[in-house]
Amino acid sequence: MPSSRPARSRACSRRGGARYPTARKLAAVAAGHAPVVLANGTEGEPASAKDKVLMTRSPQLVLDGAVLAAELVGARETVIVVHRATRRTIDDAVAERARARFDRVRIRVRTAADRFVAGQASAVVHWVERGVPAPMASPPRICERGLGGAPTLVQNVETLAHLALIARYGAAWFRSVGTPAEPGSMLVTVLGAVREPVCAEIAIGTPIVQALDLAGGPSAPLQALLLGGYFGDWVSAAMAMDRPFSSAGLAEVGAGTGAGLIAALPAGACGLKETARVVRYLAGESAGQCGPCRFGLDAIAGQVERLAHGRGAEPGLLQRWLGQVDGRGGCAHPTGVIRLIRSSLRIFDAELRQHAMGWCSGTASVLPVPAGRSR
Ligand SMILES: Cc1cc2nc3c(=O)[nH]c(=O)nc-3n(C[C@H](O)[C@H](O)[C@H](O)COP(=O)(O)O)c2cc1C
Ligand code: SF4
Repeated sequence: MPSSRPARSRACSRRGGARYPTARKLAAVAAGHAPVVLANGTEGEPASAKDKVLMTRSPQLVLDGAVLAAELVGARETVIVVHRATRRTIDDAVAERARARFDRVRIRVRTAADRFVAGQASAVVHWVERGVPAPMASPPRICERGLGGAPTLVQNVETLAHLALIARYGAAWFRSVGTPAEPGSMLVTVLGAVREPVCAEIAIGTPIVQALDLAGGPSAPLQALLLGGYFGDWVSAAMAMDRPFSSAGLAEVGAGTGAGLIAALPAGACGLKETARVVRYLAGESAGQCGPCRFGLDAIAGQVERLAHGRGAEPGLLQRWLGQVDGRGGCAHPTGVIRLIRSSLRIFDAELRQHAMGWCSGTASVLPVPAGRSR
């Protein structure tokens, strides 16, 4: 797990990776009757540490944001769902507030399920209500009918921390860093072939090379970067280095900021093998409720493994399956996995040709996959 650097948090909305504007969600939930706020600190993404670092270092800031959101929408209760690594810190922080009789809003804490899809908004609701860490069918949308049938605001814990800071220091302060179109800062996790993996706060629009410097710089010549997360995109190192880490800056190279991951792939690793390991893991994380996700991802993972290990893959078949599964399923899980695969096929085309000839020089394993869950 990366070490942490001081996080002088400044910015705002939608830091869970899904890019839905916070203000719009607040307004939708506030319009409903007796709403509830759910702070999403699940951080199911194995390569990301930002929410754990935030909740460990600044638990009261997250709670301030959750309580503030509850007051904004008129909720009497907020439920904080936290990664097990941070449960004790959050419990202590909640107890401190209770002793000081600080809040009128009731705060309830739940430990998150340790699965990739458990952090999807409706899966968090499902987990809290029934102990099932799987997405629920939509409609109804959870902002209309979520926890206990009440309109529910699900917001990432980093988003809530930014909300608390905006309330404290104002909009002008918030806009004093970042870009005019994407103001503020965000937490990033930088790992892979860097000297000192780190979780740090950067102004939105910071060049990627500077984010790598926060992790001591590359520890080896780099060939590519995985940006955003396991639903993110591979970008060649040459293309990525000077790009601003912002939605607009990364869109030009077909990527996005996602959950703030920057994973550096050294020249000595094989991007196809890295992708195959992650895809196998993600296929195993399907909640198993939708056919395209349950069976499609498993079959696709098999083809990606064949490509990665030069074992007679059928690229045409893989492309067909990607097209058939993309956009299907009850949540964005299959689409996210397919996005990762498509970017790997774009960026690692030289490896694809080498593998077809039975040659691969890649040895290192860079991307973390939970033990016992990959083949
Ligand atoms: C498969 C899947 C997994 C997700 N995991 C997380 C997660 O671990 N933490 C998180 O905050 N959001 C996660 N999300 C996004 C949530 O559905 C939701 O959009 C987010 O918590 C809203 O927060 P924000 O608007 O503040 O970014 C996930 C989405 C999908 C499709
Ligand atoms: S797409 Fe996959 S993860 Fe999402 S609800 Fe369906 S089975 Fe579950």
